[in-house]
Amino acid sequence: MGRKFQKDRAYAQELDKMDPLKKVRDRFYVQPAEIYMDGNSLGLASKDAEEALRRMMETWKKEGIKLWDALFHYAGKLGEMSAPLINANPDEVVITGSTTINIHQCISTLYKPTKERYKILVDDLNFPTDRYAVDSQVRLHGYDPKDAVKVVTSSDGRLIDEATVIEAMTDDVAMILLPTVLYRSSQIVDMKRVTDAAHQRGILIGWDLCHAIGAIPMDFKDIQPDFAVWCTYKYLSAGPGSIAGLYMNCKHFKETPGLAGWWGNKDETQFELKHEFEHQHDASGWQIGSPSFLAMAPLEGTLTIFNEIGMTKIREKSLNITAYLMYLIDEKLSQYGYTVGNPREDSKRGGHVCLEHDEAYRICKALKTANIIPDFREPNVIRLAPIALYNTYEEVYKLVETLKDIIVNKKYEAFSNERTLVV
Ligand SMILES: Cc1ncc(COP(=O)(O)O)c(C=O)c1O
Repeated sequence: MGRKFQKDRAYAQELDKMDPLKKVRDRFYVQPAEIYMDGNSLGLASKDAEEALRRMMETWKKEGIKLWDALFHYAGKLGEMSAPLINANPDEVVITGSTTINIHQCISTLYKPTKERYKILVDDLNFPTDRYAVDSQVRLHGYDPKDAVKVVTSSDGRLIDEATVIEAMTDDVAMILLPTVLYRSSQIVDMKRVTDAAHQRGILIGWDLCHAIGAIPMDFKDIQPDFAVWCTYKYLSAGPGSIAGLYMNCKHFKETPGLAGWWGNKDETQFELKHEFEHQHDASGWQIGSPSFLAMAPLEGTLTIFNEIGMTKIREKSLNITAYLMYLIDEKLSQYGYTVGNPREDSKRGGHVCLEHDEAYRICKALKTANIIPDFREPNVIRLAPIALYNTYEEVYKLVETLKDIIVNKKYEAFSNERTLVV
């Protein structure tokens, strides 16, 4: 807010010189001829992640089965390392499963519908996997999602209005699942306000942090949600299919996991291999099966970077570089049909810019041909994420020049509008 920028390239270079995080870029595998703007979808690999994975391989090579001695609590250790990102207690976080599995795990643990209170409240802009999981969870209890899943609709297809969500918290709602940052419009939903309102009405609430974790700081000690889930392959750069995060508020530690497995058993008795499940009373009790060490190790590397720098500095740069991008869009692109679809206020926008254009799909294709990697989201969104840890202001400058060139010189016309499988 209140930032002043200039339009020329020399100014972008000046911003890069003054960037306190400029050296961190060298720790990432940035391809020399490419401008990567898709770290909100799959973060770039880092040397730290690679080194952690190499160490894990060495441990396996040298130790074989003995590796358990060192790694028995690895999921919890990574949970502890993740906790500062959301200011949670270290034992409330574990690295396990995938976002979708963790939604199932948390809902199946905490959703205890009664005749009067049985609905789960969601929004119509969340990522579809959340909805699929919620629908199937109510079905498992014998309900029809058409009745038991209550959907708050966005008035403009971009934003979710917190007041509308709160109005929908009627006496028949048992639980709420919402995204913290919307994957398309980048809106930050006010977690504190919505969580407080839910709790005042006796409703449990969980958050999907996929587009928030590593992008914005969060304070769970203040917000006190019931549960949260997130993936680690976006801003946290832990690699494709990396293992996800699960937060369970300590007030629920006594609950038996909905999806129990032997890795949720108490440490002391796990290897007694008894058939009576004895639940571990911290977040690691929500693990199911054997931890996937090789898929977890890169996260150890990138969490080292995040904890070294801290979310305050990361957010500061992210806000500044995305504000710079919006400034250049306003100055150089608005006359070519481009509009900013995300909220402008710092407190209301996440780590990516939602750029809208009627030709968004073909523009994305043309960007890729120019070695700039965005991603496209239906119907008209070009998501652009200049990542605090590895993108530069000059890259943002070049991106905007290229977006202009694609329209002015009609370069998008070389591409078909026919949708391909992966966009
Ligand atoms: C908000 C949100 N939730 C969930 C997912 C994906 O879930 P999973 O990590 O289980 O594939 C995504 C993927 O982009 C997402 O954006």
